Formats: sequence, structure tokens, C-alpha cells
Amino acid sequence: SAAEKGGYDYFMLKEIAEQPKAVADTLLGRIDASGSLTLDEVRIPPRVLREIDKVVVVACGTAFHAGLIAKYAIEHWTRIPCEVELASEFRYRDPILDSRSLVIAISQSGETMDTLMALRHAREQGSRVLAICNTNGSTIPRESDAVLYTHAGPEVAVASTKAFLTQLVACYLVALYLGQVRGTKWADEIRTVVRELAKISGDVERVLETMEPVRELARTLADKKTVLFLGRHVGYPVALEGALKLKELAYMHAEGFAAGELKHGPIALIDEDLPVVVVVPSPRGRSVLHDKIVSNIQEIRARGARTIVIAEEGDEAVVPYADHLIRIPATPTLLQPLVATVPLQVFACELATARGNEVDQPRNLAKSVTVE
Ligand code: AGP
Repeated sequence: SAAEKGGYDYFMLKEIAEQPKAVADTLLGRIDASGSLTLDEVRIPPRVLREIDKVVVVACGTAFHAGLIAKYAIEHWTRIPCEVELASEFRYRDPILDSRSLVIAISQSGETMDTLMALRHAREQGSRVLAICNTNGSTIPRESDAVLYTHAGPEVAVASTKAFLTQLVACYLVALYLGQVRGTKWADEIRTVVRELAKISGDVERVLETMEPVRELARTLADKKTVLFLGRHVGYPVALEGALKLKELAYMHAEGFAAGELKHGPIALIDEDLPVVVVVPSPRGRSVLHDKIVSNIQEIRARGARTIVIAEEGDEAVVPYADHLIRIPATPTLLQPLVATVPLQVFACELATARGNEVDQPRNLAKSVTVE
């Protein structure tokens, strides 16, 4: 009913709008006044966490994209090697796991069969399993050693939005917590990031307030056949997520690429007027990455593509090459997906509407996939 949708036309729109609160709720009570993390739910003793020599993230779909971003955070803040694997592929390749491996299973529903089978396999090998889940008491957390719940609230639309942002928050918390427990040399940076995380809900809110031009742009692209998404570093999984959203909602062909891979093949796809969305990393800090992506944008524009550029406020270097510029607030590099994903959700939702698709219930899809 309209009341259930809180006045929005679709659950998806309501859930996109709820993201600032979902992000804040997922942080609530997990950072103390001194800026330390208190993840009491992670009932794996610090003694065990200090011995972990490998982290493996298993998940499907959007949750898998959260896992890809987690890898950058975990390796950077903890220096523990981290692999990310599609849950459906994981156990069939006989993965190398033991009691010093920490497996993180990410699932909104907690009922995804592929992810459940992967975690069972990991436990059989003696690994500890930590679930990141949005559904209290569901199967995946029940079968895990510990669970860190995301507090997105119920997600009704098939396309995951607020659950994804809260999965990212949970992944950052786990990465920072592992760093804290193990006393890595990044202690100062960890404190700074914790402070930035506390502000991020307001940044998401600001992005939501500036989405009208994104909707207008989406409507003009309703008759396109393909949209490409490019990113580097954590912007690469964001590109994959933007492409997945477009496939499932707009039923359009879409692909996400690591921008550096463009020259190894995908650049042959670039055609006159092809829409290419580029997620640009911050020019601060990792400026090498930034410069490289700016030249990628130049390359595709020189071949006639229509460039849709998502870049930090104040990033002037991209202006000459952007046919459409979508601004996002400046954040630390690793946290950028929390703000960069939002325009892509709005973009896909609006394109789906423009094409007359059923936004909350896309064809052929179920909210939770309980078969292998
Ligand atoms: C995302 O928009 C999807 N509908 C889908 O990829 C989903 O993220 C995937 O099936 C995993 O679901 P889960 O988080 O409930 O395990």
C-alpha cells in the first residue's frame, strides 16, 4: 500500500531515501567516545583474531560487491591477505582454509543458499565464520560463529540499496576492528577514519538532495542499448554495482570495468554517443589513480562516448571531459563508495521507471535466492 511505501511510489525509492538513517543506525553504539570500536557481537575472542592469517569474503550479487570493497579496507588497515569469492564458486574449487582463516559471509536476507553452502564448507574446514547480515535470526547468522548485524531495517525492493550501504559500513567496522585488535601501524589513520565514518550519514543525505539532474539524465537515456561503468580501486566495485542495478531494474545491457583494463579490450566497445559512467577517485591522497582515470575519460571522450562523470566536489580536472558531471562530497578514498553508489541507484531506478518496468519486482528475480 501507499502507506507502507511512506508516500513514495516504490519501496526502492523509500529505501534509497532511508540510507542516511540506515548508515547511522549501523554505526550506533559501535564507536565509543574515545573513537575506539566496541563490537561486542563479534564473539570471536581477540586472541583468535590476532592469529588470523587470511580473510575470505563470500557473498552473492550486491553483497559480493560489498565484499570486493571490504578487501581494499581489510588489506589496507590490517595487512591480512583477503580474498573475495562469489559464494556459488567458492566450495567447488576446493579452497585452502584452516583454523586460522576468517570467513566473512555477507548477506542481506541471511537465507541465500549459495552463501549458506559456502559458510558450511568453511566451517567444515575449521575456519571461523563471521556473518554480516540484515535479518535477525536468519539461517546464515545462526550457522555462523558470530554475527555483525546491519541495521538497515527491512528491505522490500528486490534491488538492494540501503542494505548495501550498511554492508559497507559493517565491512569497514570489521576491518577497523581487526586493525584495532591486532594493533597495526595504522592506528592514527584508523582513528581518523572512525571520525569520518561518524560524519558519513550527513554526506549521503547531501547526495540525496542533489539527485534531480541524475533523474533527468536517466530519462534521456531510456532508449539506449548499453551503458558502461568504469572505476578504479574501490570505484571499480562501485562500477560493477552500478551495472548490476541497471541490468536488474532497467533490463539493459550494462558492464562494469576496471578503468585500467579499458585498453586491454573493452575500449573497442566505445562508440559514438555510448553512455559511459566513470567513478573518479579523490584527487587528494591517491592522486596517481586520479590522474590515470582522468586520462581514461579523455580517451573515451575522444572516441565520441557520452561521459557521465561522478567526481568529488572541487575536482576541477574532470570538468573539460565530462558531458554530465555528478558531484559527491569529499570523503577518504576507502569510504567513497558510500556516497558514489547513491547516484547509480537513483540512475537505475529512474531508467527502469522511464522504460515502464516494475521497479520493486523486476522480472525473473526473487528477493532472496534460496536455491543453489
Ligand atoms: C541485488 O540488487 C540483488 N537483488 C542480489 O544481487 C542480492 O544482492 C543477492 O542475491 C544476495 O542476496 P543476500 O544479500 O540476501 O544474500
